[in-house]
Amino acid sequence: MCEESLLTQIISWIYLAICFLIPLIYLFLYHKAKGRKNYKKAFLIAFIMFVLLFSIKLIVRVDVKGFECPNCFLNNICPQEDDIENNDNDDVNNEGDIIDNTENTTTSSTTTTTTTTTTTKRTTNPAEKTYEKIAEPTGEKIEVGKTSKGYTIYQIDGVTYIDGYLIANKTYGLPEDFVPKNTYASSENRTNTCNTCINNTAYDAWQDMKADATAVGLNIYISSGYRPYQTQKTIYERYVRQDGKEEADTYSARPGHSEHQSGECFDLNSITDAFANTDEGKWVNQNAYKYGFIIRYPQGKTDETGYKYESWHLRYVGTELAYKLYNNGDWITMEDYFGITSEYQN
Ligand code: DAL
Ligand code: ZN
Repeated sequence: MCEESLLTQIISWIYLAICFLIPLIYLFLYHKAKGRKNYKKAFLIAFIMFVLLFSIKLIVRVDVKGFECPNCFLNNICPQEDDIENNDNDDVNNEGDIIDNTENTTTSSTTTTTTTTTTTKRTTNPAEKTYEKIAEPTGEKIEVGKTSKGYTIYQIDGVTYIDGYLIANKTYGLPEDFVPKNTYASSENRTNTCNTCINNTAYDAWQDMKADATAVGLNIYISSGYRPYQTQKTIYERYVRQDGKEEADTYSARPGHSEHQSGECFDLNSITDAFANTDEGKWVNQNAYKYGFIIRYPQGKTDETGYKYESWHLRYVGTELAYKLYNNGDWITMEDYFGITSEYQN
């Protein structure tokens, strides 16, 4: 089972250790062996061994279908199986759309050329469709301030909102016990990442987007959706051990500060920098806004978002705001749009 777990984490660490250990064992045995010694050659061989072993780790990170499980075990980057393999289920659940699972199906815009691709035909033109923003929860609104652009910042049950949009960044955290409601699969009592525990409004839009990507021969899938507070804590602490706190803070949110806890965002495909330059990554960058999604951490906006560019992290805001933030391809951040910061207090 290629699902992120303690086992996959341990295996990925063991593999990393093997990358170093095998060349070292080789050098040790070489040193112990009798006879004439050529250490220069031995070091070269050990180095080549290391490069070969380490390359396997890197190669499986490439965003190619079929590498998901090796990537999971060697790098602990694990998409859930039902998102990779059960595309048929996605189609069945895609209410309102015409489902066509026959092979080699022709759509109005594209003809698929392989016999393995499942093609889904949609009835709606996304450019003409409005995707509404997520309904704000009912509950007492407590005003906590104004943004630099004059928007009111308020909280409902400890969660921060501006203009009806949930805000989760370095400045504005989510309560530890916050669990999103109205999700496609229930987010209650989850102890691990759930790729379908996404807000229903966002998930409907996602299914349209996925179907349209499939129709043009692209394979996009959710690799990391809702993450409970404790899961984010585990992930963040692992990155701190790996890269140190300062570096980890540039790409991983501290527990309580990740949008993933909100159920309103998800990561796609490989969750690596390589995604931006794949056909899927380019399509997502140019089309996600039509379905109400934004690139939450755009390129060159680290000063505003607090995070490095993440081409794979989509946040659902609905088409009205997504069109504005897309800004003809020159993405505007939520922080800039609303006039807020994204900075930890310590
Ligand atoms: N990678 C994003 C910032 C997160 O950890 O939520
Ligand atoms: Zn993400």
